Amino acid sequence: MDFASLGNTCVVGLQWGDEGKGKIVDVLTEHFDVVVRYGGGANAGHTVRLGDQKFALHLLPSGILRRGVMCVIAPGVVIDPEVLIGEIDGLTARGLEVGRNLQLSSRAHVVMPWHKKQDRLSEGALGEDRKIGTTARGIGPCYADKMLRTAAVRVEDLYKPDAFRAKVTDVVGQRNKLFAALFGDHEPLDAEQIAGQYLRFAERLRPFLTDTTPYLHDCISAGRRMLFEGAQGTLLDVDHGTYPFVTSSNCGVGGVASGSGVPPRSVQSVVGVMKAYCTRVGSGPFPTEQDNSTGQLIRERGHEYGTTTGRPRRCGWFDAVAARYCVALGGVTQIALMHLDTLATLPEVRICTGYRLEGRTIEQFVPDCELLGRVEPIFETHSGWRGDISGATAIEQLPSEARRYVERLEVLLGAAITLVSVGADRTATLHRTSHAGAN
Ligand code: GDP
Ligand code: IMO
Ligand code: MG
Repeated sequence: MDFASLGNTCVVGLQWGDEGKGKIVDVLTEHFDVVVRYGGGANAGHTVRLGDQKFALHLLPSGILRRGVMCVIAPGVVIDPEVLIGEIDGLTARGLEVGRNLQLSSRAHVVMPWHKKQDRLSEGALGEDRKIGTTARGIGPCYADKMLRTAAVRVEDLYKPDAFRAKVTDVVGQRNKLFAALFGDHEPLDAEQIAGQYLRFAERLRPFLTDTTPYLHDCISAGRRMLFEGAQGTLLDVDHGTYPFVTSSNCGVGGVASGSGVPPRSVQSVVGVMKAYCTRVGSGPFPTEQDNSTGQLIRERGHEYGTTTGRPRRCGWFDAVAARYCVALGGVTQIALMHLDTLATLPEVRICTGYRLEGRTIEQFVPDCELLGRVEPIFETHSGWRGDISGATAIEQLPSEARRYVERLEVLLGAAITLVSVGADRTATLHRTSHAGAN
């Protein structure tokens, strides 16, 4: 990957989340001045591994691990103050700087206790077959209140104590009635306790508070290099993903402009991140899922357990139909292919190149969940590669079968694969000259 020519760049997931965005943002950050989280909230779990140290970030941009980089949490993010403060304290205790290198938008919305409670109650009421399988972090209810406006809380509201107390009293009164009526919940929230707790959180967050939008505009004018860190993945996008089994934000590239307040044309490159196979957490159709010993093997070899919830991730073969759709949606200019090491030792590997539905073959993705749940994947099979490849330091050291697999994915997606990851560590990243000539 030619870092110098990237310009302002967005890193976006091309599957159902957990593609390895945290690792790639960390790898790229060396070449950027500012890292911006533009959407999602503490449903995200971005892992960065540096030697024997592991960092799991939920709200802080992954750039926070590199000195001298400004990290921005933009208006499109929903903030759980307790999680954010916990992360800041956790990193500080490990000797990292979190101070003037972090800016938190005063316009970001706050996840309140009633949002988390509603998330849990409504999922519980839906039952196993209809629930979304959310992370229970209050994300959906918080974004819903943001759109409804009247009951929403923005970070700036935490600094107007009288009005904030009045709002909390009002909303808690309404929500207690609503939760009792809808879900038979009889453990009412305590407005006084919540208001006091959140006003204390506000004091802890005061040093980071800014209107980040003019700051980002100044960065554009000054030519500072900006990296936008996507959360979740394109197939979880509320408009373009597998609705309703999605998250509640525009987590694809489309969310950058609205979530951070920069013009769309200020992003010059889009680095799409995808695994060499597919995973999904939560409910929803997953055509290439391997609910069998192959899926189990991938899960164990890839440590496919959620960073945020610890849930086992569903695992399956690479879905080129879905990935091609995500590449098109994002205008992806380069791809980082992750977890190639995880597939090693499998005697053969498969790629889904089309779907069969009601006797017809389709090569276009089907975002309609009812139809997607019924498609049959059409697989092509490739020889696997034996041996551990996690120690490779150059693409040429990979077995020819592994290199051919990467080349095949590149052809199927029509976008250049310029980074290949063979391990969780920052250093286990191979640079690749694309045969598609697009890098
Ligand atoms: P994110 O949400 O997209 O940042 O991804 P997560 O951090 O939730 O999940 C990715 C997981 O894979 C983390 O545990 C990473 O440490 C790990 N990881 C990333 N790249 C690789 C890789 O190439 N090989 C292996 N074995 N692990 C990786
Ligand atoms: P990162 O940034 C994987 C999934 C949940 C659920 C659906 C809705 O680490 O890639 P929500 O709590 O957002 O209402 O849940 O979206 N989900 C993720 N899956 N990685 C994530 O983030 C996710 N964020 C949400 O599992 O299926
Ligand atoms: Mg994750």
